[in-house]
Amino acid sequence: MKIVAINGGPRKAKISKTTMLFEAFLSGCRQAGAEVEVINLREKNIKNCIGCYTCWIKTPGECVQKDDMKEILDIRAGADLEVWATPLYIFGPTAMFKNFLDRSIPMYQPYIIEKDGLCAHPPRAEKIPDKVFISVAGFCELDHFKPMSDWLHFMSGRGLGKVRAEIYRPAAEFMSAPPLKAKVDEILAATEKAGFEFITEGDIREETMKIIQQDLMPDKATFLDQANKFWDWEIDRWKRRREQSQA
Ligand SMILES: Cc1cc2nc3c(=O)[nH]c(=O)nc-3n(C[C@H](O)[C@H](O)[C@H](O)COP(=O)(O)O)c2cc1C
Repeated sequence: MKIVAINGGPRKAKISKTTMLFEAFLSGCRQAGAEVEVINLREKNIKNCIGCYTCWIKTPGECVQKDDMKEILDIRAGADLEVWATPLYIFGPTAMFKNFLDRSIPMYQPYIIEKDGLCAHPPRAEKIPDKVFISVAGFCELDHFKPMSDWLHFMSGRGLGKVRAEIYRPAAEFMSAPPLKAKVDEILAATEKAGFEFITEGDIREETMKIIQQDLMPDKATFLDQANKFWDWEIDRWKRRREQSQA
């Protein structure tokens, strides 16, 4: 199986919780025999869609913009499965990830069909690959992923590929907290296992998902207290640095 894995997180690999989960999942997929090609959108030059419809009219399937998106669309054409990853930014994907989707319209035809009672554009390719979706969030409740998950399933119904699995990790910033290392190791090992299970069994087991989504904090009050202490500590640290450099 050929997987094309697209990461829409803007932060560097070391601190990105999206990347931690994304890489762990893909490692499990590779162990199960999948071939994986990774595309980190933050390393690519992808201009905004300008809405000219050149890709639908003058040069069908080809965008007018000359940047890295052409190579990405060529790579995507060979995928059996796509893994999409993005942190939660304002209750949705990052602008970088959304821009990647906008710039994917050359994959579709301009014609409008009715699909399950709603309008849709037919894809140019015979088959659109299934999706596995990975996201992380700062807030501690899984409910925060609901709008993005609904959006994903809506897109799926309009022809963007079947959603086969979703991995959502709330309170993700705590994954950098040294006292929580044992739990984080467990989460990443379970995410790797999820990748292996997905390739070998076609699904992620419920018990594996429970480990990935386990609480990092004993309760919400502790989450709020620790998160706010962290921000105070960081604000103070930088205030002291500024004062020292001015002294
Ligand atoms: C611009 C911006 C918007 C964000 N919006 C949300 C949000 O709506 N809900 C949430 O729970 N976290 C939000 N966060 C927090 C991130 O999801 C969180 O920091 C996450 O760990 C970032 O992923 P990364 O570690 O891969 O960069 C936001 C962060 C930024 C910078």
